[in-house]
Amino acid sequence: MSGRKILVTSALPYANGDIHIGHLVEYIQTDVWVRFQKLRGENCRYFCADDTHGAAITISAKKKGVTEEEFIAEVKKAHLADFSGFGIEFDNYGSTNSPQTRRFCNFIWEKIREAGLIAEREIEQLFDPVEGRFLADRFVRGTCPKCGRKDQYGDSCECGAVYSPSELIDPKSALSGATPELRKAKHLFVEIEKAHEFLSEWVENSGALQPEVVNYLKGQFLSDALFPWDVSRPAPYFGFEIPDSPGNYWYVWFDAPIGYIGSTCEWCEKNGERVEDWWFNPDVEIHHFIGKDITYFHTLFWPTSLKTAGLTLPKKVHIHGFLTVDGEKMSKSKGTFILARTFLKHLDPSYLRYFFATKTSSRVDDLDLNLEEMELKVNADLVGVVVNLASRTAKFASATGLADVYPDDGGLFAEAASKSEEIAADYEARDFGKAIRTILECGYRANQYVENNAPWTLKKEWTNLEKDENASQEARDAAKKKLQDVVTVSLNLFRQIAVYLAPVLPDLAKKTEELLNTKIESWDDVQRPILGSSVNEYKHMMTRVPKEGIQEMIEESKDSLKPEQSDQQAPELDGSQTTGIAPWFDSAQPLEDEPMSETITIDDFSRIDLRVGRIVEAEQVKEARKLLKLKISLGGTETRQVFAGIKAAYPEPDKLIGRLIVFVANLQPRQMKFGLSEGMVVAAGPGGPDVFLTFPDEGAKPGMRLH
Ligand code: MSP
Ligand code: ZN
Repeated sequence: MSGRKILVTSALPYANGDIHIGHLVEYIQTDVWVRFQKLRGENCRYFCADDTHGAAITISAKKKGVTEEEFIAEVKKAHLADFSGFGIEFDNYGSTNSPQTRRFCNFIWEKIREAGLIAEREIEQLFDPVEGRFLADRFVRGTCPKCGRKDQYGDSCECGAVYSPSELIDPKSALSGATPELRKAKHLFVEIEKAHEFLSEWVENSGALQPEVVNYLKGQFLSDALFPWDVSRPAPYFGFEIPDSPGNYWYVWFDAPIGYIGSTCEWCEKNGERVEDWWFNPDVEIHHFIGKDITYFHTLFWPTSLKTAGLTLPKKVHIHGFLTVDGEKMSKSKGTFILARTFLKHLDPSYLRYFFATKTSSRVDDLDLNLEEMELKVNADLVGVVVNLASRTAKFASATGLADVYPDDGGLFAEAASKSEEIAADYEARDFGKAIRTILECGYRANQYVENNAPWTLKKEWTNLEKDENASQEARDAAKKKLQDVVTVSLNLFRQIAVYLAPVLPDLAKKTEELLNTKIESWDDVQRPILGSSVNEYKHMMTRVPKEGIQEMIEESKDSLKPEQSDQQAPELDGSQTTGIAPWFDSAQPLEDEPMSETITIDDFSRIDLRVGRIVEAEQVKEARKLLKLKISLGGTETRQVFAGIKAAYPEPDKLIGRLIVFVANLQPRQMKFGLSEGMVVAAGPGGPDVFLTFPDEGAKPGMRLH
């Protein structure tokens, strides 16, 4: 096989939960990217596996009354069914609990040892005397030492406080309810600080990371010494025992990424390939697709492991943001925590593949699923533009077949073909949304062609001539030819779009192959029209999004989850590994949109009298499209009336009542159409629905001045 040699992975999903639409953000985009590479003729392979180790698996298995091995085998089946339902095609789907993964854990561990990176330390950890095991932070609950809230996790509280489990007041084991004891145990650490120089260089100069990720790593981690990484857990622990440290097991995050190699190995064994040719070969491009929450593991620890063991470093770590639904975290009470299988029960998976693709870019930004928007997009773009091309013309084509010579189409086919490299570059860069916009433009032009050439009229004319006894054979043939030419153009323009969209919509590509009796084999198929072949009877390619389907899916998602399941399946993280704070990747866009103003003096600033105010009244101004009328209390009896252009952003003014805001108190009052405006409420954002009031921190009082 020729072409680039590309090894692609998605993060290995935890084996202790179902696949949900949040996960699918990742698996769909990886699958699209892989399908694109394959269509381009690259030697591209996609490997994934279940991430099976750790305390959480033991606990879930116990609850079900099965062994860990039985438990993970069931989960793997379910995961595979979900993935295949969404058209996600792996070259191999393995398990971290495999001999192949174990072999590579041993290998990498030995190399890390040899390099002198392992240190031993005793640490104190909470121990459950009833269960006889050490407790990961999330299995300890108690009262927050900072704010006193009850029933909080061992490492962090809803109030935002982050602490160590031993600081928790009245801690209880979430497993047995017993009061845990502090016990000492030996742990093994990777002294990643020793790789600091390598990491700084790699992060900055390899080109493997998105610019916002480079900034984040430099600012949050690389500017200080790197903490040693705790990679062992004492028995009992479901995982691999460390060969040179009996009674200790590798922490799940040590072996998880090695599962990428384990899965590659399994595939190599089945396909007569050598794993060395993939992981020890500098000519192979390794591409990891991951979510932003696991950035730290893939951009610091993993490269250190690879580098130390002499394996190939990733060419790119493609990091994506998190999914929100209707602007909020997925929530089971709202029915927006939607499992993959629930979606499949009610809706066509192509809808989600398409919607996510339109929202995918090379940035780390979160992405929002608004089901109404999905419905509109699918109906307008796919049904209305793409499929419409085929459905309006294919039915005439079964009678005419395709012309032998490609007719004059005014340059449309050539124009769409000329977009090939531009669209390919966008796919390559993971800017799927941009690629799709270009493809749709081809679709608009093609539909315009169909409109202008009205094959339905041509069909009527031809039928009439066939019926007309006086019509000559030449006239009949000419009418048929006219129709044939128009459908030949239309269907070839349609096929170009189906090829361009094939990575996103493999199902549509397959139906196109069936309709036109011709396989889609390569990206270059967009360059050559298909001619002279027969056309099969048109079968439905995609239907409009059924409204009831969405409703039913939401309803079912409300009760498909047991109450003990939390809204987000928190990955198993130990306090020793992270700060407990989700990473942030702030875009440079707002500053670019509105550059900094010139410098002012402190005196300039102090002329502005900024005060904390409380919104005591808030109502819509009926006649004004943008305005809310607010009454702001500055404490005591001081109040001000203001008209603020925040109606689109805050459509329910009642919800603002009682809140503290920042207020420009010495602004000259202004007479407006609806009354006097006596100041200004401070807000950020470009306008319209994107206006964000700023709220003072707890403890601030109305009337306080901002300095
Ligand atoms: N097991 C680890 C990964 C080990 S990789 C060597 C893990 N598993 S996970 O099941 O929690 O997540 C799998 C992937 O799905 C991660 O990349 C994660 O970021 C992604 N997502 C999980 N929930 C998500 C959203 N709500 N939105 C977007 N991506 C999400 O982490
Ligand atoms: Zn707290």
